[in-house]
Amino acid sequence: MKTKTITEGKAIIAISDEKKLSKKVNIFYNPIMKTNRDLSIAVLNALERNNLQIADLFAASGVRSIRFLRELPKNKIKQITINDYSLKAIQQLKKNLKQNKLEKNEKIEIKNKEATLLLLQSNGFDYIDLDPFGTPVSFLDAACKRIARDGIIAVTATDTGALAGAFPDACRRKYGSTPLRCSIMHEIGLRILIKKCQEVGAQYDKALTPLLSYAKDHYMRIFFLCKKGKTKANEIVRQHKIIKIENNDVGLLWTGTLWDEAFVKRMKTEEKETEKFLETIKKEVSIEQVGFYDIHALCKKNKIAIPQYIPLMEAIKNAGYDAARTHFSVNGIKSAIDEETLLKLMQEL
Ligand SMILES: C[S@@+](CC[C@H](N)C(=O)[O-])C[C@H]1O[C@@H](n2cnc3c(N)ncnc32)[C@H](O)[C@@H]1O
Repeated sequence: MKTKTITEGKAIIAISDEKKLSKKVNIFYNPIMKTNRDLSIAVLNALERNNLQIADLFAASGVRSIRFLRELPKNKIKQITINDYSLKAIQQLKKNLKQNKLEKNEKIEIKNKEATLLLLQSNGFDYIDLDPFGTPVSFLDAACKRIARDGIIAVTATDTGALAGAFPDACRRKYGSTPLRCSIMHEIGLRILIKKCQEVGAQYDKALTPLLSYAKDHYMRIFFLCKKGKTKANEIVRQHKIIKIENNDVGLLWTGTLWDEAFVKRMKTEEKETEKFLETIKKEVSIEQVGFYDIHALCKKNKIAIPQYIPLMEAIKNAGYDAARTHFSVNGIKSAIDEETLLKLMQEL
């Protein structure tokens, strides 16, 4: 197998040297997912807990675990299980561990198992990372069963076509919800994914609350804090609703908060691009609103000129509403202002 060596954060890793990235490459590594990994590190750092038992179930090159081991404080990890069902991936990740001088690290346990089997045969973990190809749905049940009290389940979904409404039947089959292709489709998709994960947790009286969730590039990602208890799980499920968007019934979806404000504000990263992305989320966290205004779409619909964003946000704030740009869209503003008042402000600008 031809490989090339790259650096990401403090990890040096060898990956398949193939031009096109697909499921079929020997060792899967997607540079676009660097933000996903940077934020996983930031989440673990912001957790006010140490001595964690971690499961990196879909490890591929091992880049995520290598970065955890090299970039997190020593006392953060008690034990880390690095797993992939591909033998080629395991062979390469062993070489990558060696390259990073981690081959003798006693915290590491390498496994070559199917992820669900590994979880079910384990005693459980404090942090479970689900990063499969496409949808994570088939791994949720075992993850919810084996997550420890107050543990974190980190879920990635790359089947945005289903979640964001390009394939509504696939969304109904996999997530049990109706999506909508529209200007806020990524937020709707993220909320449908959250609802699905929470439903699975609720079966085991576990309440999954998002600490951080976002949609970016071709994927969606949520870090859930898992608490045990019937009452807490009931409170979660009560916030699953069907919402109306332009006469369409959309959902069920999660209508609660996408972020834990205090937690997100504690998060830090030294990676520049990711820091910029996190800064946008830090500004929108305080606005508890389902959906946002796509200013371009609104202008087009109402045949008005696109206003400048800074004066528009000022005008919204002067009218007594909070407003922030949103990570979901460069054209978006999150605010609880009603559409009629917003349009009036836009026309006055
Ligand atoms: C999207 S890649 C993971 C990328 C990796 N987490 C990263 O950050 O670079 C998915 C990996 O999961 C493995 N995989 C897919 N399904 C699996 C399963 N059911 N159990 C264990 N590993 C699986 C594949 O071999 C592949 O290496």
